[in-house]
Amino acid sequence: MPAATPAVSFDPALGLAVLRTPNSVYAIRIGADGSPRHLHWGPVLDPAALTAPHSPADSSFEAEAAADELAPQTGARFGPAGLQVRFADGTIGAQWDFLGPRITGGELRLRLADRRYPLAADLCYRVRPDSDVIERWTELTHTGEDAPITVHRLDSASWTLPRLADYRLSHLVGGWNSEFQLQRDRLPVAETTLTSRRGLTGHHASPWLALDDGTADEEYGEVWSTALAWSGSWRITVHRDPVGRTTWTGGFGHEGLSWRLAPGETLHTPVFSGLYSADGFGGASRAWHAHVRSQVLPEPERDRPVLYNSWEATGFAVDEAGQRRLAKLAAGLGVELFVLDDGWFGARTSDLAGLGDWTPRPAAFPDGLRPLADEVHRLGMDFGLWVEPEMVNRDSDLYRAHPDWVVHTPTRDATELRNQLMLNFALPEVEAWAHATLDRLVAENGVDWIKWDANRPVTEAGRPGHPDPDRLWIDHTRAVHRIMDRLRADHPGLRIEACAGGGARVDLGVLARTDQAWTSDNTDPVDRISIQHGFSQLLPAQAMAAWVTDSPNVTTGRTTPLRFRFHVSMAGALGLGGDLTHWTEEELTEAAELVARYKEIRPLVQRGEQHRLTGSGGVTAVHYAAADGAEHAVLAFRPTTRFGHQPAPLRLPALDSRARYRDLDTGEEYGGAQLRHRGIELRLPAGDHASRLIRLRRVD
Ligand code: DGJ
Repeated sequence: MPAATPAVSFDPALGLAVLRTPNSVYAIRIGADGSPRHLHWGPVLDPAALTAPHSPADSSFEAEAAADELAPQTGARFGPAGLQVRFADGTIGAQWDFLGPRITGGELRLRLADRRYPLAADLCYRVRPDSDVIERWTELTHTGEDAPITVHRLDSASWTLPRLADYRLSHLVGGWNSEFQLQRDRLPVAETTLTSRRGLTGHHASPWLALDDGTADEEYGEVWSTALAWSGSWRITVHRDPVGRTTWTGGFGHEGLSWRLAPGETLHTPVFSGLYSADGFGGASRAWHAHVRSQVLPEPERDRPVLYNSWEATGFAVDEAGQRRLAKLAAGLGVELFVLDDGWFGARTSDLAGLGDWTPRPAAFPDGLRPLADEVHRLGMDFGLWVEPEMVNRDSDLYRAHPDWVVHTPTRDATELRNQLMLNFALPEVEAWAHATLDRLVAENGVDWIKWDANRPVTEAGRPGHPDPDRLWIDHTRAVHRIMDRLRADHPGLRIEACAGGGARVDLGVLARTDQAWTSDNTDPVDRISIQHGFSQLLPAQAMAAWVTDSPNVTTGRTTPLRFRFHVSMAGALGLGGDLTHWTEEELTEAAELVARYKEIRPLVQRGEQHRLTGSGGVTAVHYAAADGAEHAVLAFRPTTRFGHQPAPLRLPALDSRARYRDLDTGEEYGGAQLRHRGIELRLPAGDHASRLIRLRRVD
């Protein structure tokens, strides 16, 4: 038997580094100038036979070599630089000598050193046997002993596409209440920047993108996509040049920041992962979902509980008696986790006061939180608690005691958003306080789940007198990650939900230490369909928190049937967030049935393969298939009826043509080929906001 080709190899004679994944090859050739140059990213082939893809406009006027793996702002490079540095004598950029590769298992490091200055960089790559995702990051080291080096940009990686006939960019845009809207446009011949300058991942943009030649669809076509694991400010610049080459470079920080690299210090970037898929956008998403499950989420095999959260029901008007009433009703519906949201602490009766004072409000919880937590546990549910540890109201004891703890510039008026300021977690004493506060809350109250909220971005960032003030943008985010990691390590079983005024902190960095993310404060099921569609491009359904709330919806005023609200939320990690005290007996009975139904399909939704489907007549659907293909759940939605027509049968291309399937609710049996090619009748109820759950089992 021939020896297996190693996942990572380096051929010194050719200066060729190759990374192999099950369905793709990534190749780099060390350029004559010592800079690693991109050679290939795409289908499996022999890269040794390839020549470096020079620019078609290459001439003595404009000698542009193959694209860099991380462009260092020297030489004939005129696109966006991935590394921008300035040395103490004013010299900018790096000129590399290649020191050689270091290969450890699936990890490759290309070691570079500047020819004249004390600067070294490792360009790092990692591949895993069961995934086509390539993880990349950079480590930059000051190897000298004298003056610091100023770093204006340090990207994690640059990515390059093969020459395509055209280029199309897919990315996610939005705002509060309208997160994760998929935008798919022709890529302009220009530099296109996706960024967050907010110190949070952002509602407005997500650090994920996909590129194709304009012909890919859900099931077919080549798609190259990348995702950055960073929960603070970030920037990704896509450059399509006028002669047809497309590259992109990305990492933490937005433009205008600079960091001081001290002698002996190494700056590590976050991981920027890339995926090549030949199976369309759906194939790319499924490969990302598998990667997020196997390499990112801390406990992917654990069921996400059906939760109840009191926020939409009570707002700030929380007290022990009211929460006990809701908890009892929730338990009766089959809820597994009861989350007490905002308003339980300090002087927090509105968003004007109390943030930072993390002790129960005596008027609402006279004996603290323990009695409620005990009651929730007695009812058979886990107890969850909302916190917003990075924030403070001016009207709080914490701010009065430590006004210097907030992110601020003394000579600038501080901008308040939602009447709050942001604490500076880059200060070690603030990080220590936040960790100790959360640790105490969890230990004293038997907290099983933290909902970690963050309802404002960074403004007036400053660190008066600090030699490296912009480090705040990195250090704050790292402190948030670190506290989450410590809490999980010290409290086994504790789970954390990422939240930031809805979906403003959803990225592979935060999901490496949280179980799921609150997707959006907009719980209207019609709006949620497109929000969830966008979320699913990168992330699996088990990480997507989705609540059923009251009708009319508090955000949109839209009235929808309970069943439709449930079906849309059942496509993710189901939660309930309505005022159950106002639900009728019929609604409570129907809700309990639908919760039970969700638990039946939960293994498929939370751990199966997801296929996004588009039917006729305004129908969209999500199909969750067990890994072995034996069980299937399809959730189909039609927000608006047209002409009273029934939509065409919904085709289920993920089924096996040779198998037979039984509909578990009707008992009908179908051939797989029929369901794939002719489809299944949806038999939707008449009217708007119609939906159906179909459960299929393979019977032979
Ligand atoms: C914003 C969150 O997204 C909501 O779910 C809720 O927790 C509020 N904050 C509480 O202030």
